[in-house]
Amino acid sequence: MKPIKVGLLGIGTVGAGTFNVLQRNQEDIRRRAGRGIEITMVAARNTERAARLTGGGCQIVDDPFLVVDSPDVQIVVELIGGYELPRELVLRAIANGKHVVTANKALLALHGNEIFAAAQEKGVMVAFEAAVAGGVPIIKALREGLTANRIESVAGIINGTTNFILSEMRDKGLDFDVVLKQAQELGYAELDPTFDIEGVDAAHKLTIMSAIAFGIPVQFERAHVEGISALQADDIRYAEELGYRIKLLGITRRSVVDGVEGIELRVHPTLIPTKRLIANVEGAMNAVLVEADAVGSTLYYGKGAGAEPTASSVIADLVDVTRLATVDPYCRVPHLAFQPNEMTDVAI
Ligand code: HSE
Repeated sequence: MKPIKVGLLGIGTVGAGTFNVLQRNQEDIRRRAGRGIEITMVAARNTERAARLTGGGCQIVDDPFLVVDSPDVQIVVELIGGYELPRELVLRAIANGKHVVTANKALLALHGNEIFAAAQEKGVMVAFEAAVAGGVPIIKALREGLTANRIESVAGIINGTTNFILSEMRDKGLDFDVVLKQAQELGYAELDPTFDIEGVDAAHKLTIMSAIAFGIPVQFERAHVEGISALQADDIRYAEELGYRIKLLGITRRSVVDGVEGIELRVHPTLIPTKRLIANVEGAMNAVLVEADAVGSTLYYGKGAGAEPTASSVIADLVDVTRLATVDPYCRVPHLAFQPNEMTDVAI
């Protein structure tokens, strides 16, 4: 069978990682997907750099619309970040009958409902494992591994930058600003660090997990969001003296307020007893704890960012989409579509 053809939008850190891992593990990936996965087209602002990174084996363009409109592309991988341009590109790719893989949490947190509805209408898939917790396969765990369960809560450290900052402040007694600068130099922080340090990036990811876990629409605007920029070294020291560690947690869970059932959605610094496993997740790592009725507690831990960890999730989605697109070329199975239930209210 001929390889499935993929168009990459953006070849920054994650795009380059995706290209490398696909090449390095191509035989294993081909066996698992049932056919080859080939990047045939790349849209990049810096076309020379893109040509260098891809080694000349695919078409390089500077206009991303050429990729989403190309008859030579079956799956579009969106890795450019931001909101408006990716929204336009993803909706156009869907309208053109292409499947989409994206690592863009901000896009899905803000425009996910519109994008998923369009995909369902058109019978194509939108896969987004890489949008939450980088290389940790938490979306597949929530959607597939735990599908028999009634999920009660999902809580986790889902922003590596802030976890790195809190760890360094505690270990080395350094000030917030100094550690933030280090995090940016190490490439953990988003372009605009406000999203990391004020909890917005974590809230984007939490919103997506909440939608999957509870079968509700994406409701980022209803999340309570508080970051770590007001924390001082003294707060961290006093917490330690009392037997607690401060972590920026994203928490989503079922709750009942005044007899009304709803879903909490909140991100804020949280005091966790130091003996708890999640309190000991240090550095730029992610960990997500899920409480569910049949299985009990499960904990998912790993690298939440970086070229190859994130590429690992992008490629997992490419393999999923390839398998389904191959078994059912019209993808009538609404595999990733939301089935919102009546529980759409969010109580904080
Ligand atoms: N800035 C994000 C983080 C990158 O620190 O977790 C991955 O989404």
